[in-house]
Amino acid sequence: LAAIKIITSSHYLPKHQVSNDDLSHLMDTSDEWIKTRTGIEHRRISEGENTSDLCTAVAVELLKKSGWSPESIDLIIVATMSPDYYTPATAAIVQGKIKAKQAVAFDLSAACSGFIYSLVVAQSFMGNMNYRRVMIIGGEVLSKVINWHDRTSAVLFGDGAAGVLLENEQDSTSSFLGNHLQTFGDLAASLQAGKTLPLASFPAYSPHNYGAFEMAGRDVYTFATHRVPESIIAAVKKSNLQLNQVDWFIVHQANSRIIKQIAKRLQQPLEKFPMNIAAYGNTSAASVPILLDELIDKKKIERGQILALTGFGGGLTVGTQIIKY
Ligand code: ACO
Repeated sequence: LAAIKIITSSHYLPKHQVSNDDLSHLMDTSDEWIKTRTGIEHRRISEGENTSDLCTAVAVELLKKSGWSPESIDLIIVATMSPDYYTPATAAIVQGKIKAKQAVAFDLSAACSGFIYSLVVAQSFMGNMNYRRVMIIGGEVLSKVINWHDRTSAVLFGDGAAGVLLENEQDSTSSFLGNHLQTFGDLAASLQAGKTLPLASFPAYSPHNYGAFEMAGRDVYTFATHRVPESIIAAVKKSNLQLNQVDWFIVHQANSRIIKQIAKRLQQPLEKFPMNIAAYGNTSAASVPILLDELIDKKKIERGQILALTGFGGGLTVGTQIIKY
């Protein structure tokens, strides 16, 4: 029987590191406030590199680690809420740069749930359309949509990208188990970035300035601490497993307090919820694969273990994919 396996993973972070103290010179905030409310200490900020550059760096490294030829890839999905353009898709730019000539490529917009949504879409293409080799990357340059004078959002985010290669393998010991996706469009106003405006009247000139990132922090906090545990429970149940059988809960790194709340609601030890938010802040669609790759690299995640990958954010959206690694 064919089953989906994560062949390899990789991540890329811009070099420039910005500390909480650095931000306290730009706005009325402090290292103390940011650390205690969010767990964030530093974030990486891109200078001159756009989202497709970060994603291409990840793609090149994935090819190097796997030894796959670019022409052997059937599908490339980039999950992002900060693409280079409306069109072309960031995934199409990556496809062109790595010369993956046979690959169909498109972006997926589901904010911080984007990587999880992409895993589920890939699984469907691999099952229904016989796509065998897939590249999925979550990448963001959120710094270009942040208002660097709005302390309520600017302190939370960082730039980065990470991804995986998936393959449909005969007699694989690895597999994708159950998943759960949900969208709450009635809460769309709780988290917005990049708002555009129609012409007020034809043919009036409309300057291209896009709305900055805005978030109702408290509302998203409450959303996450309730909907994420529900999503994990639903996906674990669909996988015919118990919560205790999950080795690692790899949860979107938005706020360490949110993750602690989720662990508590699920009655699972916090040791099963690894975190790297202190170093990178919230990197939206990139946060789950960055953490996944770091844990694989440190050999904390081992073949055969059960992983629950979970994202939540703009949309509002939530999603969980259970994987036997
Ligand atoms: N520095 C200092 N003070 C601040 C800052 C700051 N950076 N930001 C806000 N404050 C002040 C507020 O003005 C407020 O002051 P007041 O009491 O005088 O009015 C006080 O601190 C408390 O503000 P709250 O917003 O109530 O703080 P809270 O404890 O809720 O923390 C936070 C805010 C960190 C945003 C939290 O609500 C949160 O993490 N929300 C979830 C965000 C999230 O998870 N987003 C994920 C999705 S992201 C995506 O999809 C891209």
